[in-house]
Amino acid sequence: MTTTDLQGLLPGLDVVRKDFPILGRTLEGGRPLVYLDSANTSQKPQVVIDTMVDHLEKHNANIARAMHQLGAESTAAFEEARDKVAAFLGAPDRDEVIFTKNASEALNLVANTLAWAEGDLRVGAGDEVVITEMEHHSNIVPWQLLTERTGATLRWFGVTDDGQLDLSNIDELITERTKVVAFTWVSNMLGTVNPVAELTRRAHEVGAIVVVDASQAAPQLPIDLAAMPESDRPDVVVFTGHKVVGPTGIGVLWGRRTLLEQLPPFLGGGEMIATVTMDRSTYAGIPHRFEAGTPPIVEAVGLGAAVDYLRELGLDKVRAHEEAITGYALEGLSTVPGVTILGPTDAALRGGAISFELDGVHPHDVAQVLDSRGVAVRAGHHCAKPAHQRFGVQASTRMSSYLYTTPAEIDAFIEALNATRDYFKVG
Ligand code: ALA
Repeated sequence: MTTTDLQGLLPGLDVVRKDFPILGRTLEGGRPLVYLDSANTSQKPQVVIDTMVDHLEKHNANIARAMHQLGAESTAAFEEARDKVAAFLGAPDRDEVIFTKNASEALNLVANTLAWAEGDLRVGAGDEVVITEMEHHSNIVPWQLLTERTGATLRWFGVTDDGQLDLSNIDELITERTKVVAFTWVSNMLGTVNPVAELTRRAHEVGAIVVVDASQAAPQLPIDLAAMPESDRPDVVVFTGHKVVGPTGIGVLWGRRTLLEQLPPFLGGGEMIATVTMDRSTYAGIPHRFEAGTPPIVEAVGLGAAVDYLRELGLDKVRAHEEAITGYALEGLSTVPGVTILGPTDAALRGGAISFELDGVHPHDVAQVLDSRGVAVRAGHHCAKPAHQRFGVQASTRMSSYLYTTPAEIDAFIEALNATRDYFKVG
């Protein structure tokens, strides 16, 4: 008997599931697929698949350099995708949306160009970059490289026992020396939703640039950058296409125009130039200055279809669904002896990824038994080793739901966990 309020489930969930052809798959032995690895990558609706195929079948050409009809069509489709992503983020200006390969490349772009920037913007010796202990490696390593190469200092917020950011020493961490504050909106390991506005406001008070990794937030939280007061709006927000029901190979960097215009190019080549001579080059304005070489064209077009799909469903409804399903999963997990949740246990404070330990069974073994029953989860460090170290573990099992997850799938997952305990005779 569940006490979780399932009112928030997505209206017409059965119909929505039919949009995702892979969800109808059966696995070896005729087992139905229970896909609980959406924080790793989301599944794709038919409209995204069809849009990409249609582009390849009818409009394929390089963009911004092919002087023919297909080139014009392809360029228009690529730029229309930029408009769609801008609308998805509520970006104040569509030229602030830059297409990258993924979120990691977007973060590396910012970290590198801050080392090369002119004037006050440049990160150098004596400056500090502040991150958090709950970051994915993609929001740690670029800042380590930046600080190691420039002589700046890397500092970080810790994490409390219940998986929240420990802000008790915020006045010691964010100071006049702070040049950049970079943090995740939603943790991929703990699920924690961080206080973006509060942290951004504090960082802006000392003149720091705020970089937010929205890779886990963009799939499940409504984002409206233009609606945020400027004091609370991050300067850079990045996310990846494949977690928002889009394809792999495409990421997004949104940046405040006045910041982007001061950053030097990251990668060189292709149409990121204004002029090139053998001595030197001058560069295009934003966004093209940061899109060297042939960009991921069909991927951008697919991403445009993906964010339109999410907007049509309504991100507020997607969020309500995630909260209901996550609450239901947390309740189910609380019935399994030996389960320890890493991160907040209140669904309202977290996203849909739940990492946990099962006493006496290694996460890889848990994942293997679950897989044998058709339940796909992730096991390991989830590219967040420091967050695991904080909780004294090497690895965990993580289930992650999304807008297509049903309560019945959570029941199958809980049943499979109990079967795992029986199999390993724990408890
Ligand atoms: N794909 C990574 C994850 O699973 C980022 O969290």
